[in-house]
Amino acid sequence: MFDHQLAEVYDLVYRRRGKDYRAEAAELAAAIRARRPGAASLLDVACGTGEHLAHLAEHFTEAEGLELSRGMLGVARAKLPHLTLHAADMCTFDLGRRFDAITCMFSSIGYLAERDRMHAAVARMAAHLTPGGVLVIEPWWSPERFIDKYVSGEAVSDAGVTVTRVSRTRRLDDAHAEMEVHFVVADSARIEHFSETHVLGLFSRAEHMAAFADAGCDAEFVEEGPSGPGLYVGVRTG
Ligand SMILES: C[S@@+](CC[C@H](N)C(=O)[O-])C[C@H]1O[C@@H](n2cnc3c(N)ncnc32)[C@H](O)[C@@H]1O
Repeated sequence: MFDHQLAEVYDLVYRRRGKDYRAEAAELAAAIRARRPGAASLLDVACGTGEHLAHLAEHFTEAEGLELSRGMLGVARAKLPHLTLHAADMCTFDLGRRFDAITCMFSSIGYLAERDRMHAAVARMAAHLTPGGVLVIEPWWSPERFIDKYVSGEAVSDAGVTVTRVSRTRRLDDAHAEMEVHFVVADSARIEHFSETHVLGLFSRAEHMAAFADAGCDAEFVEEGPSGPGLYVGVRTG
């Protein structure tokens, strides 16, 4: 999942699709500071290629990342050699320290697929928060808002490389969906095709809120999230 081939083209695809990581990081910092004015340290879980982290580091004195995919982590490390980036699974990680804020963005939590893994990840993130620390999770689609058999695609070009991305998402059952994504990458030397198929969890709002509560966080759901599925913002009470 999120193999080297995908990691290599990830930034190009989302930059050209208009995803504004800088603006999202500024909004995250504002949401965190509204709840924890003195927040100085932040961990971005499932940081991917480090795009949020690059900008979050402008708002927080200490900014670290955590990511499972070696390919994504390799891109992030090349981009952010001055930051600490951990190779770890968000369901089981233990970094031996705490942060004033933790973020987990762009539906990464959905890739855990199963409700007990989602709960475990929220618990691990909350365990790494200082008292009063803020946990921000951007979910994937809930069962109610998921659109079955959704097809999307685009072609993007930059610096002599053209990438075509086509995806199809379909419901597997009440709690799971499958996303199949195909890429064709062309430059002056090659044209290559690869694909990935991900199973994602369709977690309801009640399931997410229960995970925050079980982890000792007071949470609210913000409808206007950066990408569509909304945003959970929790504060660790103890
Ligand atoms: C859609 S990408 C989002 C990446 C990044 N947060 C962003 O906004 O661009 C989902 C990320 O979740 C990571 N991921 C999936 N399962 C994970 C796990 N169990 N632990 C840590 N990272 C995981 C993937 O490797 C991938 O980088």
